[in-house]
Amino acid sequence: MTYKIAVIGGDGTGPEVVAEGLKVLAAVSKKHKFDYKLEDFDFSGKRYLKTSKLVSAEDIKKLKKCDAIYLGAVGDPEVKPGILEHGVLLKLRFALDQYINLRPVILYPNVWTPVKDKGPKDIDFVVVRENTEGLYAGTGGYLRRGTPDEIATQVSVNTRKGVERCLRYAFEYCKKRNKRKTLTLVGKTNVLTYAFDLWERTFHEIGKKDYPDIKRDYAHVDATCMWFVKNPEWFDVIVTDNMFGDIITDLGAMIQGGMGIAAGGNINPEGLSMFEPIGGSAPKYTGKNVINPLAAIAALQMLLEQLGENKAAKDIDRAIRHTCTKMKSMSAGKMGMSTTEVGDCVAKGI
Ligand code: IPM
Ligand code: MN
Repeated sequence: MTYKIAVIGGDGTGPEVVAEGLKVLAAVSKKHKFDYKLEDFDFSGKRYLKTSKLVSAEDIKKLKKCDAIYLGAVGDPEVKPGILEHGVLLKLRFALDQYINLRPVILYPNVWTPVKDKGPKDIDFVVVRENTEGLYAGTGGYLRRGTPDEIATQVSVNTRKGVERCLRYAFEYCKKRNKRKTLTLVGKTNVLTYAFDLWERTFHEIGKKDYPDIKRDYAHVDATCMWFVKNPEWFDVIVTDNMFGDIITDLGAMIQGGMGIAAGGNINPEGLSMFEPIGGSAPKYTGKNVINPLAAIAALQMLLEQLGENKAAKDIDRAIRHTCTKMKSMSAGKMGMSTTEVGDCVAKGI
């Protein structure tokens, strides 16, 4: 079996961190005896500025022949905000129906957290973010745009099917994770009384029927932000909608030591998934060999888990943890190592 992996280096520091991930992939594939082929896809701000091209239907067809997508970052300060987000990242998520955005929040050993008196035992949970609906569905519009009577609406779309498949994934994940067996629904049932009523009813309905061993918990999204800082150890697996998931996972990234270490997966459990460091293209650090590649390497770990290469994924986890103990900081330029040295350290750890 040869895995075909689509690689989107993208913009800024994307290609640099992906290169370190691929170094680690070479090492684990050798050890665990699996083969892979890489196929490069140039979706980037740079290409857009030159050719006006984003992601086409043809590109999607080609991607669908791959087993997984490994993405660096897409974003260019020269491109008007919204174009690349919609034309590349959201386009891929929607076209490939990657309805789960999986974001582990793990504080690795020796990594500094801004949360005082909390350590790796306290910060170890996973956010399951719905990834194709909610406020991201693009429903809404203007009326009388540009006039004093302008109206703009942006509607949160929550379908029973979309909510249910996300919740089922979260319950299954919680069961498989087998830690505290607690799934927390994060919402805003006190104000968003339609959308989160659907979420809450579906949550309890399928939880009661199909997952009686999983404890069901609920927290409002604002309170969740408070608990992330005050009592992060309360969380095991969180499930939430697209917008709330976007917001709380940035806070999650901060308590786990920053964007340099936070990885995520855009998952279609029945199809093609895409894995990425969630930090963005970091133009300020581009080409300086100072960016932290661990988030991209952790994204590779998630990619291999999705492909079923669990032993390889475990090895990467172990090597990341070891590398963290050798680093001074997770922040770009302050690691006490260069980007390539961090990648070398993980690869050697394999
Ligand atoms: C993320 C990002 C994206 C999102 C943007 C770039 C569209 O913030 O992956 O969290 O909002 O989902
Ligand atoms: Mn985000």
